[in-house]
Amino acid sequence: MTMPCFLAPSLLSANFGKLADEIRVVEEGGADVLHVDVMDGHFVPNISIGPLVVEAIRKVTRLPVDVHLMIEEPDRYLADFIAAGADRLSVHVEACTHLNRTLAEIRRLGAQPGVALNPSTPLSAIEEVLEEVFQVVLMSVNPGFGGQKFIPSSLKKIARLRWMLEQRQAQGAKEPLWIQVDGGINSETARQACQAGADILVAGHAIFRQPDYVQAMAQLRQP
Ligand code: DX5
Ligand code: ZN
Repeated sequence: MTMPCFLAPSLLSANFGKLADEIRVVEEGGADVLHVDVMDGHFVPNISIGPLVVEAIRKVTRLPVDVHLMIEEPDRYLADFIAAGADRLSVHVEACTHLNRTLAEIRRLGAQPGVALNPSTPLSAIEEVLEEVFQVVLMSVNPGFGGQKFIPSSLKKIARLRWMLEQRQAQGAKEPLWIQVDGGINSETARQACQAGADILVAGHAIFRQPDYVQAMAQLRQP
């Protein structure tokens, strides 16, 4: 895979007291996507934000808004998040009993469906839904918090998924499918993840907990 990957700053690590300013800086600095983490205190231990904040984010950016639902029973909230302005909506395979139906519903409601996998969930869990998704989100930390350490075995998982997607493409798949890697991205793991075959890197602490966000993004893009 060629470098660099697309960059998706994760707003979870931004300063919520001045979110619009934080977004403007990363947007002007060349961010490709805005990643928004939604947590319910059940699927993950932490609680973050809901559709109201997504709506506020939507109003201050032209970037695609990529909402990562770390919640139980995500079907109950798909319409709300899409109405609030989510362009991409990812659900966790571990939280969906009828994953195919959930992904189809996201598409029907007008957003690009994504499916996210916890580090311990094997790729076989999504083999049957690849035709339905816009992106696969490979968690490289256990979801719930920013600033955790990248789990090294994620690199092999990225490479295996890249191989699966190449096979699929060779068999004439219609649409390309993006690999997003989420958690513990820094300049070193960014390089490793892109080399392993990632397309989109989510980064929270490595951008918003640095003194200069634009410079931090440039570092993440360095091969
Ligand atoms: C973790 C979230 C991530 C998080 C990444 O559960 O899904 O998007 O914000 O943060 P960093 O890049 O700091 O690991
Ligand atoms: Zn996330």
